[in-house]
Amino acid sequence: SGASPAISRNNHDGVWVQQRPRPRRNRKSEGVRAMVRETIVTPANFIYPLFIHDVDYCQDIISMPGCQRHSLDSMLREVGEALELGVRSFVLFPKVDDNLKTNLACEAYNPDGIVHRAIRMIKSKHPEAVVCTDVALDPYSDQGHDGVVENGEILNDVTVNQLCKQAVSQARAGADIVAPSDMQDGRVKAIRDALDSEGFTNVSILSYTAKYASAYYGPFRDALDSHPGFGDKKTYQQDPANGREALLEAALDAAEGADMLMVKPGMPYLDIIRRLKDYSNLPIAAYHVSGEYAMIKAAVEKGWLNEKDVVLETLTCFRRAGADVILTYYAKQAAIWMKEDGLY
Ligand code: PBG
Repeated sequence: SGASPAISRNNHDGVWVQQRPRPRRNRKSEGVRAMVRETIVTPANFIYPLFIHDVDYCQDIISMPGCQRHSLDSMLREVGEALELGVRSFVLFPKVDDNLKTNLACEAYNPDGIVHRAIRMIKSKHPEAVVCTDVALDPYSDQGHDGVVENGEILNDVTVNQLCKQAVSQARAGADIVAPSDMQDGRVKAIRDALDSEGFTNVSILSYTAKYASAYYGPFRDALDSHPGFGDKKTYQQDPANGREALLEAALDAAEGADMLMVKPGMPYLDIIRRLKDYSNLPIAAYHVSGEYAMIKAAVEKGWLNEKDVVLETLTCFRRAGADVILTYYAKQAAIWMKEDGLY
């Protein structure tokens, strides 16, 4: 009689691998998988970015197939359809006429500017919609920068002053959440003070806390015609090589009164999302940016990826990494897919 063989027979005369813990048992059916699933994504987690322009037709954005610059009427329809699907939050990005662009970007706080009219339209038709606005000068800047330029430099404090006027004007138009994406120092505190002093204590600040100087914003800049007029944005946006700097920004934004912290871009920065989530008790948002959207669309067009599967996986991964909120151009489409699947 020798040692029993490594693989023996069981009482049913089958192969017996002597393995008690079997993680596969928790994956054996969709019912069991759903029971133990850690991460859920719902359309309520999304903020849907919408591009708008001041003409009465829509225009496709070549590098973002499926996205358009909307006329205000078309934007309103899109908001209505998304709301029906459970997407409740929106962020507006304007394509501004060249002849309205200046270095000081004063059009950013024109009370009759396109964003202000868009906010009023949405809030009067759909008061329950959560309207977020981008606080940044680049769509209005003849320099193509997120700040006022002097001698080739982006001036921090002069810019912050302009951002305060912009944020207050958006609040006055009815914005629920203002989202500064400019990466100037001290802007969250200044904007909080400006909002409060005007009585807008209930308007939230979703801060672009860790916004990187990324090559993934290209298609967005196509959409808004907002490519930098000179140089790049590396003197104000973060170096993609740095992680700890995001924690420094998070500490400042929280102390300055931010209500939510955002990481941008998304997929290549999941580690930053996780670190901010562990570090702060504020809700964390992730921006699945234009370049990430374009990469998926391009691969799908080639027939190399299954769009629905890869998008729903990506959105789940954002949530698993720690994002409470996801800004994504796929918001409406993902909600349609979730509905098809009977999820929500
Ligand atoms: C600019 C802004 C950018 C995006 C959102 N706000 C571009 C930039 O910083 O140049 C990019 C979003 C995207 O790529 O989807 N204030």
